[in-house]
Amino acid sequence: MIISPSILASDFLNLESEIKKLNELENIWLHLDIMDGHFVPNLTFGHEIIKKICDLSENPCDAHFMVTNPEFYIKSLKYSDVHNFTFHLEAVSNPLKIISEAKKVFPSVGISIKPNTPVTDLTEEILEEIDLVLVMSVEPGFGGQSFMSNSLDKVSFLRDYKLKNKLNYSIQIDGGINETTGAEAKKAGADNLVAGTFVFKGKPYKQQIDKLR
Ligand code: DX5
Ligand code: ZN
Repeated sequence: MIISPSILASDFLNLESEIKKLNELENIWLHLDIMDGHFVPNLTFGHEIIKKICDLSENPCDAHFMVTNPEFYIKSLKYSDVHNFTFHLEAVSNPLKIISEAKKVFPSVGISIKPNTPVTDLTEEILEEIDLVLVMSVEPGFGGQSFMSNSLDKVSFLRDYKLKNKLNYSIQIDGGINETTGAEAKKAGADNLVAGTFVFKGKPYKQQIDKLR
């Protein structure tokens, strides 16, 4: 089980020390929430800051793009240490094209669906190509929201589909993850849990992360 702490809930004024604390832990991805003020109302940070964060992180950088134009970031992050590049299905007209462009740049490429997007919108072709599927268990845009349990059916569907078709994608879930919802997600088939509030608002981080595992 990979745990992906979302730095959205971290202390932004002390980001360097926050990242260094996570550098000491294992089986962690560093989850970065990139919001453009268009795809979602909130705004976070752009490619220059992403590069600096990923340079500092010894854990794989997991960049979750809640943006209308993911193609811009494929280009601007070409020479970065981003490990996984996740974009939203709802943001693009040709997801297969984005996947193929992103695969030329990043070791891993993910696709995300919002709570109201049916899991069946992820076509066979997408699921064959993708490295990771991110199921949103809150409406993207803000940390600290409550877990939406309809996401669990999507996780189970993706797990069953993966086994039946012998595919390799990881199943990540993001939003409202704590000890209880994390256990439910794990049971449904998630192998990568994103958690912001639960990790950063509780201490020490290692203990919070161990609870999720
Ligand atoms: C929401 C973000 C999440 C968020 C999770 O748009 O994608 O990664 O930071 O935060 P919590 O764990 O507080 O729900
Ligand atoms: Zn996220």
